[in-house]
Amino acid sequence: MSDAEFIIDNLDLLPQIVNSGQQKQEEFAENIMRFMELEHLYQSAIDVVTTYLNILASEFNVKFQRNPIHNIESRLKSAESIVGKLNKKGLPISYESARNNLLDLAGIRITCYYITDIYVIVDMLSRRDDFILIKKKDYIQNPKPSGYRSYHLIINVPVYLAAKKEYAPVEIQIRTIAMDFWASLEHQLKYKTSAKIPDEISQELRDCAERIAETDFQMQRIFLQMEDME
Ligand code: GTP
Ligand code: MG
Repeated sequence: MSDAEFIIDNLDLLPQIVNSGQQKQEEFAENIMRFMELEHLYQSAIDVVTTYLNILASEFNVKFQRNPIHNIESRLKSAESIVGKLNKKGLPISYESARNNLLDLAGIRITCYYITDIYVIVDMLSRRDDFILIKKKDYIQNPKPSGYRSYHLIINVPVYLAAKKEYAPVEIQIRTIAMDFWASLEHQLKYKTSAKIPDEISQELRDCAERIAETDFQMQRIFLQMEDME
């Protein structure tokens, strides 16, 4: 049995395991330790990126009295979703498999005010020479068939631990408040039902995404006009 499955299957049995044989107890304790170390590494990678973004945000406030970042949120994928995703992809269920195959164990979502702000943030993240870019996808220039728009980066982030430096990949999604409004509602609607969404509704959702994108462009133009007036 894999470590992750072992932990999930045995959490409810914890009291019995604690009272069982020495070897089983040690095995359980080791699995818990490995899982906690993995979580610690990925949370630290999130902290490294978040700290950098907060420093940039305050620098923008000091220098330009305006900050491109509206909000930053982050999450670690739960053990349950890790097992679910590995299963779905037909991959082995183990720490090594999760570490090597899943690039979204650590996730950060940044909402910006305007479309151009997104590219400012992408540029800042790309310029850090200790961040290794693994993947980038511009779903703003090339929206997904669903209508989804966002800029995605996967970056390998160095984490300086007591005895070594380790890298952990972080998935960063950058979008405007308007794109986030659409993505949140669409996600909620999709996951509410296990049934396939009818084509007419998918088309309506795409239409909404397009209207929202037009509004984003219009707000961007207003912003640039106002800036010119200053
Ligand atoms: P995953 O296996 O889902 O991680 O897909 P992927 O590796 O091909 O990455 P992709 O860039 O397509 O999507 C990664 C993430 O973007 C998803 O986990 C969602 O958070 C978000 N996303 C992608 N497509 C959509 C969409 O159509 N609607 C919404 N609401 N979110 C989406
Ligand atoms: Mg994902």
